[in-house]
This record gives sequence, structure tokens and C-alpha cells, in this order.
Amino acid sequence: MSETRDSLTRRNVLKAAAAGTAGLAVSRLAAAGPTLEPQTGAKTMIGVPFEARSVVRVGFIGVGGRGTGLLSDLLAVPNVEIVAVCDVVAPRVANAQKMCRDRNRREPAAYTAGPHDFENLCKRSDLDLVYIATPWDWHVPMAVCAMENGHHAAVEVPAAVTMKECWQLVDTSEKTRRHCVMLENCCYGYNEMLALNMVRAGLLGTITHGEAAYIHNLRGLLCANSGEGLWRREPHKVRDGNLYPTHGLGPVANYMEVNRGDRFEYLVSFSSPEAGLSEFVKSKFPESDPKRKEKYVCGDMNTSVIRTALGRTIMLQHDVITPRPYSRHNLIQGTKGTFADYPARVFLDGQPNDEWQPLEPFQDKWESKLWKELGEVARANGGHGGMDYIMSYRLIQCVREGLVPDMDAYDAAAWSAPTPLSQESVKRKGASMKFPDFTRGLWKQKRSNMV
Ligand SMILES: NC(=O)c1ccc[n+]([C@@H]2O[C@H](COP(=O)([O-])OP(=O)(O)OC[C@H]3O[C@@H](n4cnc5c(N)ncnc54)[C@H](O)[C@@H]3O)[C@@H](O)[C@H]2O)c1
Repeated sequence: MSETRDSLTRRNVLKAAAAGTAGLAVSRLAAAGPTLEPQTGAKTMIGVPFEARSVVRVGFIGVGGRGTGLLSDLLAVPNVEIVAVCDVVAPRVANAQKMCRDRNRREPAAYTAGPHDFENLCKRSDLDLVYIATPWDWHVPMAVCAMENGHHAAVEVPAAVTMKECWQLVDTSEKTRRHCVMLENCCYGYNEMLALNMVRAGLLGTITHGEAAYIHNLRGLLCANSGEGLWRREPHKVRDGNLYPTHGLGPVANYMEVNRGDRFEYLVSFSSPEAGLSEFVKSKFPESDPKRKEKYVCGDMNTSVIRTALGRTIMLQHDVITPRPYSRHNLIQGTKGTFADYPARVFLDGQPNDEWQPLEPFQDKWESKLWKELGEVARANGGHGGMDYIMSYRLIQCVREGLVPDMDAYDAAAWSAPTPLSQESVKRKGASMKFPDFTRGLWKQKRSNMV
């Protein structure tokens, strides 16, 4: 087990060293904007339904912290068969197999023969969907491999970390006619789905501005000698920008119907100094700990502003270092009112006072259908307050019933793109960076996304 971890760590170090060159490629693409959009000639995947299946056959790559949670959710969703599980750490796969046996399911096949054994899992012909919950750098190679072998990909967040990777997901999805769904669970949060209903009903009027964030003090996790501590500190050494944009941004994109009538057009970004991670490492680890020699470049707080084609603005923040309470902001406002989260509250035009209203009076009317039907089972089974269960239930429902997925490769690319674009903007003192139009012009078409 430690050998595997060591080799993974070595790989990350090599990748980190190579990131300077990768950054140049990103900067050229980002600066040039839409003119460098790949032209594959392939047909769009917008609006393409899954082919219906009575039972959805799932392969799993990565059963660490997150993958094990996703597997547990999926075992509680009806009509799912876990066919195969892959991880470079064999005992984690054995644990996943046991989880299946304990739920009276067939034991899935194991793939544990090194960092490229996922390719053998993907070569199986008895899969419909491949769940991917591995470190960030592996997401795109694994999702591409799944699609190229004829399977739909369900990939953890962020789906991609460079502009080239964003395009790879879109191009491969179009070429293979397979979907690439990013597992953005926060889109299925209770408050997010409720706010989406309020927005759709016009309660907040004409939507003008949103605020999104990932503010989560992860210093301990980043510095752990296990789990994400083995890989998630690496980007802090080589990239300065928003490393984790999608949890806050996905729901705001849904409120604004991004890729369904609007699109992200450009972004500016600024980072505060890096201070918190260095100070934390100095205060927690002895002089002899190798972490004391590490240099971090990612500013503690990154603030970006996105402007959409319809002229709306989104403030997007990232801070996984500062001691402060968790927040994704989750704020959406329009000409008739505002919904804000942390804590959830509403303000509507014409209220008799100037104070936020609590969410409770709005719940009966605006709670999402999925939460009404599945709330109890979701809260009992699923992580993150139940939204993880709702997400997987909904994805499986879309495959089983042959529906169009709620989120597609275009969303995965657009929501992940702020990572490379913010890095480039920060490097250029807040220069404006263009988002490519991943939909190749089809963003203007109105279409539904979430239930
Ligand atoms: N949506 C959410 O709420 C949420 C929460 C936590 C993590 N995540 C995301 O999930 C992903 C995984 O995070 P985690 O917390 O589980 O990390 P982790 O380190 O606990 O697990 C990653 C797993 O991937 C395995 N792995 C690494 N390289 C592999 C390879 N080449 N082949 C097969 N297996 C490989 C590791 O052995 C490990 O078991 C990340 O992208 C993270 O951002 C999302």
C-alpha cells in the first residue's frame, strides 16, 4: 500500500514540475479564446437522451473517501448493478466488494494492477456507466477512456483542470456519442433545488447577479498523510487561482440557464497573498517534516467575476485555507428579490420590513419534486445531507428511462473552465479572459436542465 502511495506521490511531483510548461499551453488557448475552438465536425450531444436500460451496469474507478461514499449511495438506488471496481490500493477494492456482498449484491470484478488498470475495466463490454472518483489529474484520461470504450462517464469535480482537457471532454463526448456527466452534487442540494424553482417561477424577477464559492477550511485535510493529503496540496504549489469552482458555480449556472439561453462569456480574477497554508505547516509540523520545505503559490482567497453573454455577473470565490465557516454563498438576485444561503434566506420586493425572511414559509410551495419524494431516504442514505443520493438517483433514473441527462459535457467544461482561466487572469494582473463557446453556438437554444 505504501509503495503505491509513494509512486503516486512521485507521479504528482513530476506532474507538478511539468506544470510550468502546461501553463504556457493553457495561456495560449485561453488568450486566443474562441478562435482556437477545436472543430471536430461531430454532431452535438445537446439534448441527446440515454438509451433506456432496465438495470444500469456501473463500473467504478477510485474508491477512496469519495468513491466509497458514492458507492454506498448507489447501492441504495434501485436497479443498479456494480459490475467492476478499480483502485490502485487493493484493500479499498476489497472493501467495495464487501459493501456489495453485504447488500446481497453480486461481487464486482476487481482491477488493482496499477495506475493504468482502469483501461482494462473500461474495455469491458458489460458496462453502461463508469463512475470516476480519483485525483483531479486523472479525471479526463479516465472519462475519455470510458467514452472511447462505449460507456457514459460520470466524473467527479472539477471534471477538468486545463482548457485543453475541457475540450477533450466535449470532443470525445461528441465523437463517441457518449455522455460525460460531472457529478456536481451541489446542484441537487435541498436549498439549491428550491431556489431553482423560485427562479423559474419568476419570484425573483429578471435575474441579474449571482454569487458562488467554495469556502471550506481544509488545511488539516490538505496536510494529512492519507486520502486527499497525498495529492491535493500539489496544485497549491504550482497554480494560483480558483482550484475548485464547480460546487458554487454549478447551481448558479442552473439559475441563469447557462448553456440553455445564456453562457459564461469572460472572467477576471484576483488572488490574495498566500499565507495561511505556510503558517499552518510551520505551526503544526516539526522542522524535520518535508512539508516544511514546500512553497505554496495559491493565494488564500481567490475572487473572480464572470460576465455572461446576457450581461449578468457572478462573483466566484475559492478559499480552502482561512479559518472561517463553510459557505458556497449560493446567492441569486433579480429585479424582484434575492435568495441567499448560509443561512438560507429570502428577501422579496415589497416586504414590510428590511430584513431577510427565513426559508420555512417558502418550503411547502417551492421544494423540489425529487426532495418531496425522496427526501427521507436521501437523508438516511446519502452524504452531504442527502444531496449525493438525490444526484445518483437522478442520474440512474435518466439512464433507466432514456432521458436527456441534467448535465452534459458542455456543462462539465464550462463549469470547470474557471480554474485555468482564473490562473491566467491572476498571472496577468486581472486581465479579462474569454470563455470558449463549448456548445459551438447552441447555447442560445432554450432547453430544460434539472427536474
Ligand atoms: N462532490 C463532492 O462533494 C466531493 C467530495 C470529496 C471529493 N470529491 C472529489 O472526488 C475525487 C476523489 O477525492 P477523494 O476525497 O475520494 O480522494 P481520495 O484520495 O480519498 O481517493 C482517491 C482514490 O483514487 C485512487 N486512485 C488514484 N489514482 C488512481 C488510478 N490511476 N487508478 C485507480 N485508482 C486511483 C486512490 O488510490 C484513492 O483510493 C476528487 O476529484 C475530489 O475533488 C468530491
